[in-house]
Amino acid sequence: MAILAFDIYGTVLDLSSIGIDRSLLKEWRSAQLEMTWRSSLMGLWFDFDEITRISLRYAMNKIGLAADEEEILRKWYGMAAYEDSKYICVLGEKHSIYALTNGTRRSIEEALERNGLLRCFKGIYTAENVKKYKPSVEIYGGFLSWIGSVDAYLVSANPFDIYGAKNAGMRAIYINRHGLPIDPLAPPPDHIVTSIADIINLSI
Ligand code: 2OP
Repeated sequence: MAILAFDIYGTVLDLSSIGIDRSLLKEWRSAQLEMTWRSSLMGLWFDFDEITRISLRYAMNKIGLAADEEEILRKWYGMAAYEDSKYICVLGEKHSIYALTNGTRRSIEEALERNGLLRCFKGIYTAENVKKYKPSVEIYGGFLSWIGSVDAYLVSANPFDIYGAKNAGMRAIYINRHGLPIDPLAPPPDHIVTSIADIINLSI
């Protein structure tokens, strides 16, 4: 039995499922993440839903797109899970499954429930608990304190998240979904897979 803490956006939920212009999504996601990093560095707290809205507006301005912001946000909050996310429930028969995410509890619960996955999670730990975003040591450390163990895996398709988890003393499973190389500064992940289904066969 292992403790598996799943990243959510980009790992369980598929950002591309919202079906918006690819260049907007790319600008939006990178502005969104940059705002989380700046927020943590400056010690200023904006919750992830707020950052999602502000970064969308910024990305639309940057690429000069005049579109209905509310309509795009509705799509974001209707995001679908990756096809292989159903295996999280199979993993849950043997392992303890948690969400470890930047997202707000409200939005994450709603998205997991809508995708039929909430029942497979034992708990949800969010940046709101420590008011610091990934890859701050506080969010991973806060999660380990909360579960009362130092022995847990982060499962993520975001390379910076893998680095953050390793830096905070967690083990890590990298899902190479996006064809991104692992962070060259980071210690290597403990396992690299291409799908959540592959985790079933790991000796963890
Ligand atoms: C998450 O924490 C990093 O957005 C990613 O869900």
